[in-house]
Amino acid sequence: MGKKYSHIMAPLKIGNVILKSRFLSANALPHFLQGPELYPSDAVVDYLINIAKNGAAIITIGDWTNLKQREGFGDGCHFPMWDTRDPALENALTLMVDQLHFFGSKVSIATHLPAPEGYGVYDGEPAGGMPMLSPAEMEEMMEEMAEMMGGDGAPMPFGPPPGSSEPIKAMGLPQMQEYCDTLVKKLKYYVNCGYDMCSIHASYGATLLSKFLSPKYNKRTDEFGGSMENRAKFPIMVARAVKKAFGQDFLVEMQVSGEEEGGITVEDIVEFAKLAEGSIDILQLRAGDGDLAHPTGFNSKPHDPLTLRFAEAIKKSGAKIVTAPIGGFQDLDDIESYIAEGRTDMIGVGRAFICDSRYGEKIAQGRGDDVVPCVRCNRCHGLGMQGPWKSVCTVNPEVGIQHRLHALVQPGTGGKKVAVIGGGPAGMRAALYLKERGHSVTLFEKTGKLGGQLIHADYSSFKWPLRDYKDYLIAQLEKCRVEVRLNTAATPEMIQEEGFDAVIAAMGAVPKLPPVPGLTDDSGKAVEGVYDPIEVYGREQELGKKVVVIGGGEIGMETAMYLAENGHEVTILSRQRKFAADADRVHYYSMFADAWSKMDNLTPVKRATTTAVAPGQVTYTDKNGESHTITCDSIVACGGMAPAQEEALAFADAADTFLIIGDNETTGNVMTATRSAFAAAMRI
Ligand SMILES: Cc1cc2nc3c(=O)[nH]c(=O)nc-3n(C[C@H](O)[C@H](O)[C@H](O)COP(=O)(O)O)c2cc1C
Repeated sequence: MGKKYSHIMAPLKIGNVILKSRFLSANALPHFLQGPELYPSDAVVDYLINIAKNGAAIITIGDWTNLKQREGFGDGCHFPMWDTRDPALENALTLMVDQLHFFGSKVSIATHLPAPEGYGVYDGEPAGGMPMLSPAEMEEMMEEMAEMMGGDGAPMPFGPPPGSSEPIKAMGLPQMQEYCDTLVKKLKYYVNCGYDMCSIHASYGATLLSKFLSPKYNKRTDEFGGSMENRAKFPIMVARAVKKAFGQDFLVEMQVSGEEEGGITVEDIVEFAKLAEGSIDILQLRAGDGDLAHPTGFNSKPHDPLTLRFAEAIKKSGAKIVTAPIGGFQDLDDIESYIAEGRTDMIGVGRAFICDSRYGEKIAQGRGDDVVPCVRCNRCHGLGMQGPWKSVCTVNPEVGIQHRLHALVQPGTGGKKVAVIGGGPAGMRAALYLKERGHSVTLFEKTGKLGGQLIHADYSSFKWPLRDYKDYLIAQLEKCRVEVRLNTAATPEMIQEEGFDAVIAAMGAVPKLPPVPGLTDDSGKAVEGVYDPIEVYGREQELGKKVVVIGGGEIGMETAMYLAENGHEVTILSRQRKFAADADRVHYYSMFADAWSKMDNLTPVKRATTTAVAPGQVTYTDKNGESHTITCDSIVACGGMAPAQEEALAFADAADTFLIIGDNETTGNVMTATRSAFAAAMRI
C-alpha cells in the first residue's frame, strides 16, 4: 500500500471478524447531544455516522437504556435512559446501527452492571455513595453547597450516602451467576438491534469488575482475591458468559486500567492479558483514574501518551490479545509509527473524532498536518456544573450543530474579496474558513506576530495544547496561502481603497484593571510596578521576586502559575471561595487545581478583598474582616477584558458586509472565538 497511513488503515482480523481499520472510537459522545428525546437524537446519530464515515473500525455507544422504566434525565443527557419497554426504541436503535454499518464499522455497546443489591466485592466493603473526600475537600464542598443553597448557614441538600449503614456482603457464586445472566439479558436487547460487540467497563476502580481486578479494591481472601489470577476470575467468567450466549464472533472488549496508584501494576495487566486470551478479544487500556484518562495540558506531555506503554508491555510479553490504548492519541504520524512498530494493534480515540469532523478524510489523504489539534479542555463534557449545558468543542464549531449545518450554512460561492482585521484565534480561523469557501482573503495584524492572546501559550508549560493549536493555525494560513500583512494597522480608508467586499473585525479585547485604589494614576494608567495579565508574558524578569496577583479567576491563576514556574514567589488573592471558578469543571478543574496546589512558591488566599495598593504593597481584608498588607516587587492586576468595539465599529461602512467576531464583540474564550469565526465565514 502506498498510503501514508497504511498501518492505521490496515484491516485487523479477530477470529472471523474483520475490523476495517485500527481505530477504536471509544465511548465519548459529546455530552448533551442527546436531550430528553425518547430515541437517539438526530444530533447523536449524525455525530456517530460522521465517525463511521471517518474510518473508525469500532463505534462504541453507551448503554443509555433503563430496563425498568424512564426515571429521570440522569445528569442532563449523559445517561438519557431510553425506555426499553417502548418497542419503537428497538426500531430507532436498529436504524441507527444500520447507518453505522453502512460505512463498515462495527457497533459496540459499552456496558457494566452494579453488583446485586446488598452485595459487593468483599464482606464489609464500604457501600457506594459519595466518593471519599479529604477534610479540605469536604470543607470546600460544604462551603460551595451552602453558597448554592443561599448562605453560609443553609443545610446540606442531601443526607448520608445511600445504604451506608447496610453491611455489604461478598458476592458468592450465585450472585456472580446472577450478574452474568443479567448482563447477557441486557446485551441480548442490543444484539437484537444489530450491535456487533460489547465493551465492558472495568477501569478506574469505578465499576464492580474493575474492583475485582484491582488489589486496591479487592480485599477477598478466597479464590477471587489475592493473586492476579484469582482477581481475574470473575471478570473472565463474565466475558465467557457473553461469548457462550452470543458466540465466539461476538467480540468482547474490556476496558481496564493499565496501572493504578496503589493498585494494578503493568505486570498485573500483562498477566491479565494472557489469562483473558480466548475470552476477551480486545483490551482497551486506560489510565488509573478518570482524570488521568482524560489528559489535559496539566498532566500530559506532547507526543507521549501515557497508556502506550501498557500496550507495549502486553505485546512484548507475547500475549495474543488485541491492545487498544487510549488517552491523548491524535497525531497521525505518531499513531502510524506505534502500529507499524508493533507497539500496539489498535488505538482508542475519543476527542480526536470530536475536535476534527474530517479526521478520517485527512487520514485517507495522508494529511496529518491538517488535523485540528485537540486543546484538551474537556469542554466536550459540557461547559460546567452550573448554567445551561450544551455540546461544545473549543476548536470544532460544528459540534452540537452538525445535524443542522444544512440549514445554517449555504454552499460557498467564493469570489469575494474579504479583509480580516486581527490575527488572533478568531481572525485566523475566520480567514481559513473564508479561504476554504473560495474567497480571496487578506489578514491584517497590527503587531509583528500572529496569535493574539494565544501567544501567552508559548510561555507556560501546561498550555502546550493551546500553543499547538495556535501554531497549527499559523501553519495553515501559510499552507492555504492566505495573504497575511503583519505590522499593518488596517484603516477604514485602506479597506475602501483596496475595494474589499467584506470586512471582518477580529480585533480582540483589552485588559481592564480592577477598581482598586492605587492601581492607576490620575489619568487612569497603571502606576509603575503594576501589570495586566497579558503583558507579563515574556517579561517576567522585570517583575522581581515577589509578585502579588489580584484576581483569582482562571486568567489570574494561570498567570500566577506561569510566574511560579519561573521562580517568582507568588501570592494570589481572590474574593471568591474558589479559585479559577470560571474554569471548566468536568475533567479539567481537578487537574488544574492539583497543578497549582503542588506549587510551593504559589500562595492562594481566598475570600480576600483587595482594598488598596501602594508602591510595593497590597492590602486586603480577609473573610473575617481583618486587614493584611503584603510587600511585593510587582503586582499583576486582573480585572477582566473589554472588547475593542469602538475600533471595530470604525470599519462598519468600509465594505458592503461588516461583521464583528470573537472577543472584539463580546469577551469570551477560544471556543466562542472559533464559533463566531465559523458563523461569520459561513455567512459570506
Ligand atoms: C465527551 C466525552 C464523554 C465520555 N464519556 C465516557 C463514558 O460515558 N464512559 C467512559 O467510559 N468513558 C467516557 N469518555 C472517555 C473516553 O472514552 C476516552 O477514554 C477519553 O476521552 C480519553 O481519550 P481521548 O484522549 O482520545 O479523548 C468520554 C470522553 C469524552 C471526551
